[in-house]
Amino acid sequence: TQSCNSDPQSSSLSVDSESLQRQIDELSTFSDTPAPSVTRILYSEKDVLARRFIKNLMGRSGLSVHEDAVGNIFGRWEGSEPELPAVATGSHIDAIPYSGKYDGVVGVLGAIEAINVLRRSGFEPKRSLEVILFTSEEPTRFGISCLGRDLNSGSCDRLLARSQALSEALKKTVDGQNISFFNAARLAGYAKDQEDLSSVFMKEGHYSAFLELHIEQGPILEEEGISIGIVTAIAAPASIKVDFEGNGGHAGAVLMPYRNDAGLAAAELALAVEKHVLDSGSVDTVGTVGIMELHPGAINSIPSKSHVEIDTRDIDESRRDTVIEKVHLSAIAIAEKCKVELSEFRIVNKDPPALSDKSVIEAMQFASQQLNLSHKFMISRAYHDSLFMARISPMGMIFIPCYKGYSHKPEEYASIEDIANGVKVLAVTMGINS
Ligand code: GLV
Ligand code: MN
Ligand code: MN
Ligand code: MN
Repeated sequence: TQSCNSDPQSSSLSVDSESLQRQIDELSTFSDTPAPSVTRILYSEKDVLARRFIKNLMGRSGLSVHEDAVGNIFGRWEGSEPELPAVATGSHIDAIPYSGKYDGVVGVLGAIEAINVLRRSGFEPKRSLEVILFTSEEPTRFGISCLGRDLNSGSCDRLLARSQALSEALKKTVDGQNISFFNAARLAGYAKDQEDLSSVFMKEGHYSAFLELHIEQGPILEEEGISIGIVTAIAAPASIKVDFEGNGGHAGAVLMPYRNDAGLAAAELALAVEKHVLDSGSVDTVGTVGIMELHPGAINSIPSKSHVEIDTRDIDESRRDTVIEKVHLSAIAIAEKCKVELSEFRIVNKDPPALSDKSVIEAMQFASQQLNLSHKFMISRAYHDSLFMARISPMGMIFIPCYKGYSHKPEEYASIEDIANGVKVLAVTMGINS
């Protein structure tokens, strides 16, 4: 028995674009680097202020707000059948150093606005609707991406052990300033009285669907003039940390045959990563050395230590794993050649790809059609909170165009018209799933 208010009429949906743009602009001011760049690191002062800003908006939209022990924030609109699994949507607001103001943010502020849109249309949900702000999608501070999600997905059989392992690992995890994860969390007002994070774990079936709105972070939608991307799969990410150690020494006094230069080993490894990635023969295989640190970092000192962090991804998991194996063999060979020690080769994460749920995809397609918005199916090459939510819930993602595909840099931009289209598709999809 459907009430007349159980299906949002696409023609009656109105997005308050002006407020939404103002919120995006205001949120971007909670940053540790000057505009237009945004830097918002997990549990930093700016992150705490930004979280407060979001909780306020959730409250103003009539959502009841609660936070878990690591700071995943949930805003809930109770449905008429609150015992049913809720429909959830959300994303992240942490921002890597010198990035832009749309990555993640569109999926949090846009989700709150989608709730407003549904309320204004007179919609009354059957299932409850939840907006989630995930703690730290980005790996910047503690080297672990999608931290909240990994924990969230913990109670899925196969993952229970793993998440408890993660929860254990977090006890030993420190940031670049040697601040432990738990101290940082406590300073931000979380993880108050326990180091047991099992309260954060979520069981499979907790949500009936998880939806995420996000900028594409690629050029395809803009180039093809298409309004909506419907994600069918998320590529499989992996990250690796490598350390080389040599003897260092005076840059003038130690002659070339007597050196063992950890810096050169790092440089050779970076080139080896590029080679192995290109050798896969597929454009879908990518690899990046985004961090390379030399110790002691003085122009007249041979590097005695080097630290390299490697990000590699593919839509094909086994092809990506082949790259990882080859990179490992290269690291061993390079250490021997450079007469340095390979003191660490650690695979931090090696995640499988995620597939979107067929019925969620269909709902998003139907929503786009109802709204007269052109759409296309696509792969997400970036990872998202959805990668992990897919482990406990049917999942789907809505992409909107962004300027030249720019992301993870200050030039990141999406027009408010495109964002508003995404918000409407999200609202209708939530309505269908509720
Ligand atoms: C997360 O932002 C990613 O690197 O895909
Ligand atoms: Mn990002
Ligand atoms: Mn993101
Ligand atoms: Mn991402």
